[in-house]
Amino acid sequence: MVITEVIAVSVKRRVLEILNRDRGSYISGEQIARELSITRSAVWKAIRTLREEGCAIEATTRRGYMLHETADVLTPEAVKERLRGAAKNLRLKKLETVNSTNVFLRECALNGEAEGLVVLSDEQTEGRGRRGRSFHSPAGAGLYMSVLLRPTCSLEESLFLTTAAASAVALSIEKISGQSAQIKWVNDVLIKGKKVCGILTEAAIAMETGGLEFAIVGIGVNVRQPEGGYPEDIRETAAAIFTKNPAGGVRSRLAAEILNRFMNYYRSLERKTFLNDYKRRSVVIGKDVTVIGGGEEKRAHVLDIDENCRLLVVYEDGSEGTLSSGEISIKI
Ligand code: BTN
Repeated sequence: MVITEVIAVSVKRRVLEILNRDRGSYISGEQIARELSITRSAVWKAIRTLREEGCAIEATTRRGYMLHETADVLTPEAVKERLRGAAKNLRLKKLETVNSTNVFLRECALNGEAEGLVVLSDEQTEGRGRRGRSFHSPAGAGLYMSVLLRPTCSLEESLFLTTAAASAVALSIEKISGQSAQIKWVNDVLIKGKKVCGILTEAAIAMETGGLEFAIVGIGVNVRQPEGGYPEDIRETAAAIFTKNPAGGVRSRLAAEILNRFMNYYRSLERKTFLNDYKRRSVVIGKDVTVIGGGEEKRAHVLDIDENCRLLVVYEDGSEGTLSSGEISIKI
């Protein structure tokens, strides 16, 4: 990106911050120009680009500009001001588009970035899912975010990061939308049986210690239906939290809710304070499932999830098994 483009992007972001702060009321171009020490024509240029990008900004000659009440602008400021407790020290970076927030953060981690950087993006062009799958991440329809951690806990304990994140997401969705959320072991969050969130935790092992060098917890939430719906391959299984337009700034509020809960669980991961909430929302306990792993599929009945988040199952031949997420997946 050349320097003039960088300046234009930052002006646009700052104009949007002001409009978002005063969402639902008009603010004149002159006032924005004064606040940012830029010309009115620079303000207008930024507004024009924002509108071209789909931002619901009203412009009238006498009153100025207004961002619609329901506009869902994701800004680091709006997330940050809602962070509490262990999440308060997180550092936020917001991108408009990126290949994958996990990939971006991995680069940061390899360059020595400290624990606590969170990357949020409006869109991912190559969103990554588990088992080499992709994660559909169209602009503005979802919350795509990754958290960089440098856990000092054991490798076994670090496996609970995904479970903790699933609990944090489920509880946050319930708080924001008033709907009840379920969890499909190990990391899918569902509403009415359809997947609204996927979580991908990626980690690097430190050769010297055998512990974790870093972990990246990537969370993708379908907040609203993308224009034109979901691609064919996930049309039957995916859904969004909201079918109608939710209140403004919902992605920023959701991000903050998730980060607050997740960082709280992370602070005392070994105590597994997320486990009760996780189990209570499990859609697999008591169900017959197909266990897929090691090149074969076997029918089994799920008895429980144990204190290490493993699935306790009984197979059709009466033998029992304890399943870890790394090795297998299940179909309900
Ligand atoms: C899955 O359902 O298989 C996991 C999906 C995880 C998607 C999130 S979106 C933010 C982060 N960046 C990625 O590329 N993937 C994760």
